[in-house]
Amino acid sequence: MSQLPSHVVIGHPIAHSKSPIIHAAFAAQFSAEPALASFEYDRLLAPLDGFATSLQQFAAQGGQGANVTVPFKEEAFALASELTPRAKAAGAVNTLQYLGGNRWLGDNTDGAGLVADILRHISIRGRRILLLGAGGAARGVILPLLEQQPHSLTIANRTLAKAEALQAHFQPTSAIAIAVSTFTELVGEFDLIINATSASLGGERLPIAPTVFAPNALAYDMMYGKEETPFLAQAREAGVAQRVDGLGMLVGQAAEAFALWTGLRPDVAPVLAQLRKMA
Ligand code: ATR
Repeated sequence: MSQLPSHVVIGHPIAHSKSPIIHAAFAAQFSAEPALASFEYDRLLAPLDGFATSLQQFAAQGGQGANVTVPFKEEAFALASELTPRAKAAGAVNTLQYLGGNRWLGDNTDGAGLVADILRHISIRGRRILLLGAGGAARGVILPLLEQQPHSLTIANRTLAKAEALQAHFQPTSAIAIAVSTFTELVGEFDLIINATSASLGGERLPIAPTVFAPNALAYDMMYGKEETPFLAQAREAGVAQRVDGLGMLVGQAAEAFALWTGLRPDVAPVLAQLRKMA
């Protein structure tokens, strides 16, 4: 096997990952930094049944850190010998740091990336949040959102029981009121509406009423793509002026991972602008 870089993003599939572009741009911001002389970042395709083996081989060849993407985030969580509190809350790991002796520290930077991107547009404190979806993507961002001291958090999902399970998990340790609903039974209006469902992947819209968007609401889709996502089209038709896709979250989670590995905090805005130009 050819020599692997110091850092990788592991997934299956992985060919379309933008992470190498993002981390190369971050590293270029610190070109005078000696600590980054050996920083290299590339994609690593792991077989669907070979995540642990791929990671072991990577460490044996001097690997220091890895981002983990679909479908290995839960496996990375199970495999990590140490976990940050936010990774524990997420139940999933998207960032690994090698500790030596085949031991890995597992972190989850997705929620921090989302929060940082939202804070570039509006404050979260005191807002009524509506989180659409109750799968892994939704669970991963709940703790960082609650830490921003919103007014309340409502989790709406097609399958109510999954929203209830998240409520039962997070409510005991949070003073913020967490409510649950199905999409069609949602009551009231919200200031920050976040789509964490994978409905957009199939081009599907969510059966939510346009009245859930408060005046001056921000609609955030964790998905992104060349075209407007179905959820952001829905928000636009409901009259929502502030609509943001998940490209900034992608760059934000990468910035958090880069900071964990290198101790250096990159500037997100120019890298996001670079990606938008490439899209
Ligand atoms: P991820 O890791 O992306 O969160 P997941 O754990 O499979 O993936 O969760 C997918 C989420 O999208 C769930 O909330 C799912 O709803 P259910 O819990 O009812 O399955 C939601 N979802 C997927 N397709 C959807 C659709 N067409 N309409 C509404 N919700 C959808």
